[in-house]
Amino acid sequence: MPEPKRLVAGNWKMNLLRAEGIALARAVAAEARGAHRCDLLVCPPFTLLAAVADALGDSGVALGGQDCHAAPAGAYTGCVSAEMLKDAGCGHAIVGHSERRHACGESDGDVRAKTLAAWRAGLVAIVCVGETRAEREAGRAIDIVSAQLAGSVPGEATAANLVVAYEPVWAIGTGLTPTNEDIVEIHAAIRGCIPAGARILYGGSVNPKNAAEILALAEVGGALVGGASLKAQDFWAIAQACG
Ligand code: 13P
Repeated sequence: MPEPKRLVAGNWKMNLLRAEGIALARAVAAEARGAHRCDLLVCPPFTLLAAVADALGDSGVALGGQDCHAAPAGAYTGCVSAEMLKDAGCGHAIVGHSERRHACGESDGDVRAKTLAAWRAGLVAIVCVGETRAEREAGRAIDIVSAQLAGSVPGEATAANLVVAYEPVWAIGTGLTPTNEDIVEIHAAIRGCIPAGARILYGGSVNPKNAAEILALAEVGGALVGGASLKAQDFWAIAQACG
């Protein structure tokens, strides 16, 4: 089976208003129509999904949501279902991002239910895992990530419906990254917990300067990019770093 292409995904988080989001999506789409070696995905805030879907057009850049509710519909004020993401043009949903695990108190069980919801709607689930600084310093990173995977990834996972994003909490938005050896070690451990062929992304302070080195690691199937995905030039430089 040929190796899947690397996936470079932009998580815009809670950033950008309509005009800025459309401009960024148009710029990414324009670049994506030229030669490139990776799959591309952008995950805007919910309010921009329809406008960004329109701006991406037939560029081949995929669209994803940053979260979804476990239920298909109902009395859940402020929430968005996986079916709604699909209806807005999404093919992917990020679930279990550490900013939701920590700030919104999401448990592995919640993330598992959201993963099942994504699959129910026909979306690829991007399940995020990662240790805190204290957990890494205590030598517990692999145990923590393995436990998160065991609790968050349902048994029905396949290489086609699952992407795992390893995002050490202490590397997100800090400019810090693990050593290559640490990335390789933890990606290899993740590989042992998920179906063969499922992509494992690295996320946490990926930028145009460090992308080539990180993406050159055989264990790394792509990148989940936060801050640097908000500038078309930087996002594109990271995409072009895929060898
Ligand atoms: P930064 O790239 O800004 O560190 O964010 C990473 C992230 O959380 C992507 O989901």
